[in-house]
Amino acid sequence: MSLDGRVAVVTGGTRGIGRTIAAAFAARGAKVVAAARSAEPPDERVDVTDPGSVRDLFDRVEARFGRVDIVVANAGVSRPGPVAGQAPEAFADVLATNVAGTFHTMQAAVPALRRAGGGRILTLSSALATRATPGAAAYSASKAAIEALTRTAAVELAPHGITVNCLSPGIIAEGMGEQLIGNAAVWARYGPRLAAGRPGTGEEVAAVAVFLAGAGAGYVNGSVVDVHGGLDW
Ligand SMILES: NC(=O)c1ccc[n+]([C@@H]2O[C@H](COP(=O)([O-])OP(=O)(O)OC[C@H]3O[C@@H](n4cnc5c(N)ncnc54)[C@H](OP(=O)(O)O)[C@@H]3O)[C@@H](O)[C@H]2O)c1
Repeated sequence: MSLDGRVAVVTGGTRGIGRTIAAAFAARGAKVVAAARSAEPPDERVDVTDPGSVRDLFDRVEARFGRVDIVVANAGVSRPGPVAGQAPEAFADVLATNVAGTFHTMQAAVPALRRAGGGRILTLSSALATRATPGAAAYSASKAAIEALTRTAAVELAPHGITVNCLSPGIIAEGMGEQLIGNAAVWARYGPRLAAGRPGTGEEVAAVAVFLAGAGAGYVNGSVVDVHGGLDW
């Protein structure tokens, strides 16, 4: 599945799942900008909570590479805490990064994708979007919102040749998933529910991202694709 000649932007592309997706795109011939707040070089830095910062990033990418074809709105945070006790600022931070950040990324990407004649937007949800877990209210709510945002954007942008699909990973042995796996209590609860008998890898998520970003996925639109190894929960 070649992405030769494509230009891709991956937010949160400096570590974890985003970095693995960026590497998989590059291995298939894409030019990739792996953007984040701490990205190097500095012209790949972005704060997705700030719409101006995201617009500036896309302006720089288009100026440098001449086009943008693929956008992965992957940047995300988790701030665990109980509904009864979580600081409102923590809840707001999760919504600002995950939901507004995805919205800012989509909105800033659309003009460049349209100038390229169409393209692909991928968003990141989570198995927790549809499953209750104590302490995950902000994160779960943010991921459910991303799925709704994905479906709406898909129908709005289809006339412009832009597809919008969502990856929904389960427990992945990379990035924030490593903390879950490393927590004995959490793993004792969720480990036995994985039909695969093991956590997923970043490469297994990236393989689905490569498919959705490629020419073969032209008729996949507005979909949420589970990548959770068969989660019985
Ligand atoms: N790992 C899993 O098991 C798992 C499971 C389901 C879903 N997911 C989802 O997959 C995505 C990636 O998760 P991950 O586990 O790889 O996370 P991670 O290792 O914590 O990486 C998060 C990335 O997002 C960037 N980021 C955070 N806030 C940002 C902001 N305001 N602006 C720009 N970049 C920002 C970080 O870089 P800076 O801090 O430098 O900005 C980093 O590159 C997330 O959306 C997550 O919810 C992960």
